[in-house]
Amino acid sequence: ASDISQDLEHVLFTSDQIADRIAEVAAQIDADYDGKEILLVGVLNGAVMVMADLQRAMKSHVQMDWMAVSSYGAGTQSSGVVRILKDLSQDLEGRHVIVVEDIIDTGLTLSYLMNYLASRGPASLEIMTMFRKPDAAQIDVDVKYVGFDIPNEFVVGFGLDYAEKYRNLRDVATLKSEVYS
Ligand code: PRP
Ligand code: MN
Ligand code: MG
Repeated sequence: ASDISQDLEHVLFTSDQIADRIAEVAAQIDADYDGKEILLVGVLNGAVMVMADLQRAMKSHVQMDWMAVSSYGAGTQSSGVVRILKDLSQDLEGRHVIVVEDIIDTGLTLSYLMNYLASRGPASLEIMTMFRKPDAAQIDVDVKYVGFDIPNEFVVGFGLDYAEKYRNLRDVATLKSEVYS
């Protein structure tokens, strides 16, 4: 049987390393919010894995909502064009909101989203991202919770895709060059 792990070049983070870091970030969020109810807003599709794991690692009362935004399409480069494919289902007025992302690359997606969400009157608004590529930033985004800063390489797994594939890998890894051709 074919196995998607055969397409991997180099594993950057194992599922255990990811889980350990999520537990640390969850404890930090619990301490910072000190009993307040939190609304986690996940950005589909990439954030599904971190949304599921982060909230189960937290002890706070957590609710969830989702937005679907796409800037990448099928390639490996950000187009810079952000489209809202699915809007929030809940009102943000007076809520403590944390936007949850799998990765911040150029920052264009979250920069757009944060302006949009701030205009909806949340009591507070922060970002948690599992990964961030500091060398790829094209715009400054104020991020309170970061899992790992990573090099500017294309990585897949734990929700991160290449052409909608590889999201279901438990580890985060680079792909062999022949996968792209
Ligand atoms: C990816 C990733 C972030 C965004 C980061 O989403 O999940 O949402 O790109 O890139 P940026 O910082 O350069 O804007 P994508 O648009 O690929 O959609 P997906 O989550 O469905 O994969
Ligand atoms: Mn995404
Ligand atoms: Mg993507």
